[in-house]
Amino acid sequence: MSHKIVSKKQLSEDVFTAEIEATLVARARKPGQFAIISINNEYSERIPLTIADVDPQRGTICLIWQRVGKTTAELAQMRQGDEIANVTGPLGKPTHIENFGTVVCVGGGIGNAPLLPIAKALKGAGNTIISILGARNKELLILEDEFAKISDELIITTDDGSYGRKALVTEPLKEACMRDRKPDLVVAIGPAIMMKFCCEVTKQFNIPTQVSLNTIMVDATGMCGGCRVEYDGKPKFVCVDGPEFDGHKIDFDLMMKRLNAYKNQEKQAYEQYKKHKCKIGLDK
Ligand code: FAD
Ligand code: FES
Ligand code: MG
Repeated sequence: MSHKIVSKKQLSEDVFTAEIEATLVARARKPGQFAIISINNEYSERIPLTIADVDPQRGTICLIWQRVGKTTAELAQMRQGDEIANVTGPLGKPTHIENFGTVVCVGGGIGNAPLLPIAKALKGAGNTIISILGARNKELLILEDEFAKISDELIITTDDGSYGRKALVTEPLKEACMRDRKPDLVVAIGPAIMMKFCCEVTKQFNIPTQVSLNTIMVDATGMCGGCRVEYDGKPKFVCVDGPEFDGHKIDFDLMMKRLNAYKNQEKQAYEQYKKHKCKIGLDK
């Protein structure tokens, strides 16, 4: 069964969002879960994307993705009315939601997309939400309005100072940890290096920190081992044991090494794709 793209929008230079028909996935999904999509057929690459939102009545899911390589570029080229061959999900364990008290939600780049449904659900459970959103520059910042709606306090940082505070997210995070009323939980989602340094900050203050890991995935059923990480010295599979983990127990250096394992092949595939489909950048 294929899945029609009901609507599609470009959010920033390389970030896109689409509402896609997937009735059963929309009805079953809980915050924190993801889907595996393959665009054309069984020979397409399978890529994991977080289900950023759902509309169970309309039977649609919302995906937000950053164009970083061949498959995300191919998806960015698709238009309203086009069909995606396969959407498998919901996958992964849902986020544990309860009233913890004060939760700091830290998002970096495209990490804001998987963070938003979690922050929404935490707000719905009665938590006070302090959101810290970071981007390299103003153009790359996404979902600011959506976070403003559900945050009791919103702090924006950019690396180049083009918007908000010129800082890395770890700076306001450290300040939040030093307040009289210490946060009860930190949720950090973004590039592995950002999550690593957020965890180093929160460890000093002994604040529980949840991260959502974006390892390479292939089957997403716990069989292939592609998404293996070291957690507390033991192997875990992000697709079935995660994607969320206690960040203080993750070996981020090993995770980053494994993320880079296929860099040459990915670069080659993207360059070949661009050569044959040189419409990138023309799509809105
Ligand atoms: P490539 O050039 O093939 O790869 C670029 C980089 O993406 C690689 O170096 C590697 O770090 C990563 N990557 C490559 N292949 C895979 C793969 N099969 N699985 C995972 N990572 C891969 N991205 C978003 O933009 N939005 C999301 O909501 C989102 N949610 C995710 C949720 C989970 C649980 C995981 C594991 C990843 C998520 N990602 C998300 C990352 C996304 O899957 C990758 O950016 C995408 O697969 C890259 O594919 P590509 O062919 O365009 O790029
Ligand atoms: Fe294959 Fe997780 S993706 S084991
Ligand atoms: Mg790829």
